[in-house]
Amino acid sequence: MQVYFDNSATSWPKPVSVVDKMIDYLINYGANPGKSGHAMSLRAGREVFETRELIADFFNVPSSDRVVFTMNATHALNIILKGFLQNNDHVIISSFEHNCVIRPLRLLEKERNISITIVPCDSKGNIDLIELEKSFRPDTKAVVTLHGSNVTGTILPIYEIGAICKKKNVPYIIDASQTAGLIPIDMIRDNISMLVFTGHKKLYGPPGVGVLCLQREIDVPSYMQGGSGSFSEHEVMPDFLPDKHEAGTKNTVGIVGLKAGIEFIRTRGIENIRREMNDLTRHFIKGISEIGEVKKYGPDSDSERLPVISVNLSGMLQSDVAHRLDKEFGIMVRAGLHCAPLAHKTIGTFPTGTVRFSLGSFNTEEEVSYTIEAIKKIINSGFKS
Ligand code: ALA
Repeated sequence: MQVYFDNSATSWPKPVSVVDKMIDYLINYGANPGKSGHAMSLRAGREVFETRELIADFFNVPSSDRVVFTMNATHALNIILKGFLQNNDHVIISSFEHNCVIRPLRLLEKERNISITIVPCDSKGNIDLIELEKSFRPDTKAVVTLHGSNVTGTILPIYEIGAICKKKNVPYIIDASQTAGLIPIDMIRDNISMLVFTGHKKLYGPPGVGVLCLQREIDVPSYMQGGSGSFSEHEVMPDFLPDKHEAGTKNTVGIVGLKAGIEFIRTRGIENIRREMNDLTRHFIKGISEIGEVKKYGPDSDSERLPVISVNLSGMLQSDVAHRLDKEFGIMVRAGLHCAPLAHKTIGTFPTGTVRFSLGSFNTEEEVSYTIEAIKKIINSGFKS
């Protein structure tokens, strides 16, 4: 049996409709959108535009020109953080952030003397909202948090955080890489100033496309300059959206794949997908909770968590556990720090990390049961490292 439980790294398999759409582009109209005036370029441009419209509708972005395509979520966050934060600015983050937020900020701390307040989360990942509110300063330029943890699956209360940011009149930046496509997100209702996500996880697109959505009043300077296909007579970057953030040739094959991924979610219903994922997660958590030697991290209840389950098997090296799951049982997981050392420091699993099982909408109850049995066998084999 082959079981893929690494959907937080990238979802697999992709829906057939995603693959078909990408092949159709490559075979039938694989031109460069927005650059030339011929039929295939126009058709590719129309597909890109329709994808922007679909994303704007899906996340309630004020208009589709405020949907910017990037290489990935990290690229989108670099555009925002390096464009938006200036010398001596203050920024607030949570103690659960991924390196895609921490690393650019640590660089800006050195290069632009920005200061960072890290608001503590508890060992299950729940953020201290009182502490968050107390962290604001007159020079606070932004609050940045993830929406869902790739380590513990904890869902952060973005609506409540957004309300605090609104009260303080400070922009709120959200990294929704683990939740976009699984939990409804509404940029206006949730008071989100800048929303970042990747297309290849819960949106079921291919790797290589990230998205940055900007609220109406937000302006971020261009981070990368080059050909935009517009105003080519000018030697400087155009100053309008989305062109000012889209230098160079876009990943059109990835963008059309993302469009099909979002259509797949719309057809199945985001609530239905979430319900199915919750059922599988409950099944998984119930199974491992009955094994004494397994320590599980993150919240217990459905409403507080994603289908991401991090565990430690007592007395074992977690990398060995992942290796044995793969080699002996065909179960693919990720072990280690998951690019989020701060989160591991918060939950007490730094520097060895956890074994992470991240479920996707193509996983089954049978695969979960098989995995629980595999964990029991590894424990019973008495192997200690
Ligand atoms: N951030 C991704 C993960 O959690 C790659 O695996």
